[in-house]
Amino acid sequence: MKRVPLGSTGVDVSQLCLGTMMFGDRTDEAEAGRIVDLALGSGVDFFDTAAVYAGGKTEEILGRLLKGRRDRVFLATKVNVGNGSEYPAQIAASLEASLQRLQTDRVDLFLLHWARADMDPPAIMAELAKVVRAGKARFIGCCNFPAWTFAHFNAVATSIGAPKLINNQLPYNLIERGIEVEILPQAVAEKIAITCYRPLMAGVLAGKYIPGQPAPADARATTDERIPKWLAENAGGVTHLLNLAKAKGVPPSHVAIAWLKSRVGVTCPIIGVSKLAQLQDAIAAFSLELTADEQQALAASFATEVKEVSQFYGPLRRSYSLLKK
Ligand SMILES: NC(=O)c1ccc[n+]([C@@H]2O[C@H](COP(=O)([O-])OP(=O)(O)OC[C@H]3O[C@@H](n4cnc5c(N)ncnc54)[C@H](OP(=O)(O)O)[C@@H]3O)[C@@H](O)[C@H]2O)c1
Repeated sequence: MKRVPLGSTGVDVSQLCLGTMMFGDRTDEAEAGRIVDLALGSGVDFFDTAAVYAGGKTEEILGRLLKGRRDRVFLATKVNVGNGSEYPAQIAASLEASLQRLQTDRVDLFLLHWARADMDPPAIMAELAKVVRAGKARFIGCCNFPAWTFAHFNAVATSIGAPKLINNQLPYNLIERGIEVEILPQAVAEKIAITCYRPLMAGVLAGKYIPGQPAPADARATTDERIPKWLAENAGGVTHLLNLAKAKGVPPSHVAIAWLKSRVGVTCPIIGVSKLAQLQDAIAAFSLELTADEQQALAASFATEVKEVSQFYGPLRRSYSLLKK
């Protein structure tokens, strides 16, 4: 597995980040164990989890599975709150509970799970600084932060002498392309690590669902009502994806992952699997390269680029060349 620099940290991680959200949910501990073994055996050492997954069960499973081999993993977890004003009080307590469930004394990356209303950046960055200085989190970051909010938090960090956020974790795939506006150019300019969740749009880009046909009985679509809607809205793109994959002799998931990993500014796709075979499949996908023409035609078939009327300002929001190199 290829290794990539994690933003400005000086640390390299596997380009495939293993998402564990299904552990303790659709994936039982035995299968999760096989997934973790395969990941470690294949050079995948970047694992993503969160306090909130399966009400804490995901972290507990991971803690048991990583016993004796914690040091082989670059481990990320997250703190989640309902309202931003709760972050300062929750940061240390949530991390402490995560460390207990994960059976470790530190995480490598500690993330604010969502940008929420009523956040107080100086108070939040001061609390994050405490957990870094106590050695309980090596690096800090966030998920789902708008570009300006990320920049604002880091400006506050600099002004109070606190460590900066090094990572923004966001949804990005052929259907959800919002981060192409400002977030990816910001990431390149500022060396922010961008980790992308939902690379297969919960299976819609995996060839798991065929437009116009019923979903397989054991799929996430049986419990996630967004999936049939995403499929119906993107039937043209999904059909193009299925045809391109067939022409190349690879599964559709390989094509979707290959497109995502080659985007400028993307550090790691976060691969969420519920079965061992899905991780085997994803690992193989990281060897696939699409031509520039294939990438362009594929993206065009989805027509999901954020639309802007302004022919001058719109491109500026996607430009990588506004600053002198
Ligand atoms: N920070 C955040 O707010 C946030 C939000 C969501 C997720 N995440 C992170 O991102 C990770 C990935 O998210 P995600 O699970 O939504 O990713 P995803 O890539 O959109 O969906 C994964 C699902 O796709 C299906 N799949 C995967 N590989 C397949 C294959 N080879 N063939 C057929 N189907 C396949 C499986 O569905 P079935 O289970 O139906 O088989 C699997 O559960 C999570 O584990 C979590 O770590 C973060």
